Amino acid sequence: MTDATVRAKLLGLPGSLRSNSNSLAVLRGLQDALPAGVSMDIRDLRLPLYDQDIDNPDAPAEVHALRQAIAEADGVVIVTPEYNYGMPGVLKNALDWASRPYGKSALIGKPVLVISSSPAFTGGVRAHQQVNDTLLALPARLTAGPQVVIGGVADKIKDGKLADEAVLKFSLGAIDRMLATK
Ligand SMILES: Cc1cc2nc3c(=O)[nH]c(=O)nc-3n(C[C@H](O)[C@H](O)[C@H](O)COP(=O)(O)O)c2cc1C
Repeated sequence: MTDATVRAKLLGLPGSLRSNSNSLAVLRGLQDALPAGVSMDIRDLRLPLYDQDIDNPDAPAEVHALRQAIAEADGVVIVTPEYNYGMPGVLKNALDWASRPYGKSALIGKPVLVISSSPAFTGGVRAHQQVNDTLLALPARLTAGPQVVIGGVADKIKDGKLADEAVLKFSLGAIDRMLATK
């Protein structure tokens, strides 16, 4: 792909660390289905716990790497599960790291699309709302429009990737809306 044909580079962040994660599978399915000129790197959110005492220029290397990856992306796609009616601590922890330095966060003004999924029919919608609220604190540029909430996700994954055509199409439409704002 030449520079002229590169329209956007996305960063995909799964809110789950487990290797067989549905969230990761959703990102992998989307990665394969992106239109020409759009690519997505996927990065896991295995980071130390946020500690303001170490949030300084000597912060852990993974933190700098996450902030850098966000800064370099044209848009961020977060796919989160729901844990106990809320967003997983792993994701909140990463967003807290990414929210700093205060006033200079790489997420400020960054186009972000939030997707939630669950094996339950509720699709993680409560976690979705919490992620939106956190992103509005920065503020990131949240993608408006129909929310992508994937219920019954386990039945929509094949060979470790989201494979449901209708959900893929709906999600790609949301990615299009996100890129229209960049
Ligand atoms: C600690 C914990 C809490 C959970 N709470 C919820 C919940 O509140 N709502 C829900 O829909 N699913 C809940 N689940 C089920 C998750 O949606 C399911 O395990 C999902 O596969 C996790 O996402 P992942 O596949 O990306 O790892 C919970 C799972 C765990 C491990």
